[in-house]
Amino acid sequence: VFCSTDASRKEMIDVLLTGLHRLEYRGYDSAGIAVDGAGPEEPIVIKEVGSIAKLENRVKEVESSDNRMKEDVRFKDSVGIAHTRWATHGPPSRENSHPHSSGPEDNFLVVHNGIITNNAVLRDMLTGHGVKFESQTDSETVVKLIQFLYDQLIQSMPDLSFPRLVMEVLRQLEGAYAFVFRSKMYPNELIACRLGSPLVVGTKDYRGTERDVFKVNKISQYNKLSNRGTPAPITPVLNIVLDKEEPGTWTDGGFRGEYLFSSDAGAIAERTDKVFYMEDNDVVHVRHGNLEVFNFHAALDDHVLSDNRIISTLPFELETIMRGSFDHYMLKEIYEQPESLTSTMRGRIKKDEGTGRYEIHLGGVKSRLRDILSSSRIIFVACGSSYHACLAARQVVEELTDVPVSVELASDFNDRKCPLFRSDTCVFVSQSGETKDTLESLSYAKGADAVTVGVVNVVGSEISRQTSCGIHLNAGSEIGVASTKAYTSQIVALVMFALQLSHDRHSKDARRQEILAALHEMPYQIESSIKRIDEVTLRLAKSLEQSASILLSGRGFQFATCLEGALKIKEVSYTHTEGIHSGELKHGPLALIDDHMPVIFFAASDNTKGHIQSALQQVLARRSSGVFVIVCTEDDPDMLKYRGNMCELVEVPKTADCLQSIISILPMQLLSYHLAVYRGHNVDQPRHLAKSVTV
Ligand code: G6P
Repeated sequence: VFCSTDASRKEMIDVLLTGLHRLEYRGYDSAGIAVDGAGPEEPIVIKEVGSIAKLENRVKEVESSDNRMKEDVRFKDSVGIAHTRWATHGPPSRENSHPHSSGPEDNFLVVHNGIITNNAVLRDMLTGHGVKFESQTDSETVVKLIQFLYDQLIQSMPDLSFPRLVMEVLRQLEGAYAFVFRSKMYPNELIACRLGSPLVVGTKDYRGTERDVFKVNKISQYNKLSNRGTPAPITPVLNIVLDKEEPGTWTDGGFRGEYLFSSDAGAIAERTDKVFYMEDNDVVHVRHGNLEVFNFHAALDDHVLSDNRIISTLPFELETIMRGSFDHYMLKEIYEQPESLTSTMRGRIKKDEGTGRYEIHLGGVKSRLRDILSSSRIIFVACGSSYHACLAARQVVEELTDVPVSVELASDFNDRKCPLFRSDTCVFVSQSGETKDTLESLSYAKGADAVTVGVVNVVGSEISRQTSCGIHLNAGSEIGVASTKAYTSQIVALVMFALQLSHDRHSKDARRQEILAALHEMPYQIESSIKRIDEVTLRLAKSLEQSASILLSGRGFQFATCLEGALKIKEVSYTHTEGIHSGELKHGPLALIDDHMPVIFFAASDNTKGHIQSALQQVLARRSSGVFVIVCTEDDPDMLKYRGNMCELVEVPKTADCLQSIISILPMQLLSYHLAVYRGHNVDQPRHLAKSVTV
């Protein structure tokens, strides 16, 4: 969203489309924008199925064919909204894409991120009142609802304000949302609100009088009668009083500048680095360049909330969200791993040049170390690649802390309502810090009074703000949907967590020093081998191009590698791939082995090597041709003997056993990338997937 007190329509469209490009990795089924025609009473809505590039072309077509857009106009006050979609209700189509409209007149327009769970009840209620729907989306229900409530209320309340109206809509809703509304009825005004879905607000001042805080306005005398619930009340009761004793607006005669709203700070970073994060139940109102923050929850149950929304400066540099000379973000992010891992360790691992000893310092968890160490269990909770990173690190955390560690898929953890106690520590691992299932587990853990630790990449994200302590990955923005550099940084962060927890354990000292020295070395090892690994996997990808299925197998620290490798290949190359624990091969999967099934083994130089050798012998004995690959450490004599017609070796640098998974995943990241490119797939935006699964 772009609100400006001095922008031309062209500029507005430019800002919106650039923002959409930056957000495209989050959803890319369809997209749309709404900007002013001659003025705010004449909104122009343009939507298209598919990529932002397609929307861009459509906008150009409309600009040259629609009289309302032929001439560029400069506005003293203007609001533009835009959206890129990841389908939940209804397939990708123009009708189902956002902005959604209240009807042919476009009186109200909305964009939505999230999911409205009482959509069906509200739809039935509105249909019962003769309201017609064009799409199958839950978001359209909301825009129809706002028109419906407006029609009911405006007769008796001619001074009905936009925030009051929206609050009345919000209390009919269940689910999660970030909404932005604009309306002909409230020209040049904008309402943004959130519950459970992220919204960041960027501010840019044309006068050079920057502010650092927005005060939250109180809402008093709120009627508690219809506190969220189904069925939604049909007759609204409006008695909200917006108490303006503590205005959040400028007092120096009005703000000249712009506000930008987005689900992700990356979309607005080109325009401003001054942002604040909206909290749940915030309703933000922009009008003639003024911005006010109201909080809805305060009215519902006297919930104590912070009084201010503090402006902070975005930490990341623009280059981290640009692709540079790489063809795809995924490839750029794979190659970036020496730097991203260095950043994850920067300032946290230090070498004393005198003694040659390493020290670890994780400032973000220090305050809770004692609580964590006295826990009876440590539970890792995550989804997708983040879950695999937890699996990769579990063993070393157990080894160094002597605390039992379990690893949970957030969705399953939530389904089971896993018994949880205040003596437990829950560690939430998430690149985005916004994944819905992980967030739900976090609020469950907070309810049980467990110690909560966040391991996240995105600074300011929900998980980083809701946990009692944590570690930022500092891996830089990850744009490719398939996680690569965040995955390896997650493993490093979790290993550092184990090292920090065991910092005063003398019995673990030698082992800790071994791991720390290996961590220190790792970025150089990757740097010096990645090009060679890339060349080997490029050839390998060619030989697998026609394969319908691939099996990956490993055990010990490499079990996580085969699961993560299989996920990478599935998500970008669409090849059915399974990661199988080598100990489980003989319990079923061996039946899949024939001369056509490609098999990739991970054979690290650790205590599992004997088992791995017997498993790979069992596979080799059951076939006479086909692709057979062993990912092993460089110059390992036990593995070199397999090199030959039947077997290809991919050698990677050797590191400490508990860190080997960080290096062994590189060939799988590159293999999946090359396979996807050979097959002509959109590597950065695989079909049906999204980067942040916030619904
Ligand atoms: C999505 C992404 C994956 C990611 C998973 C968990 O499925 O495509 O790359 O691993 O979500 O996301 P998180 O942000 O919590 O790590």
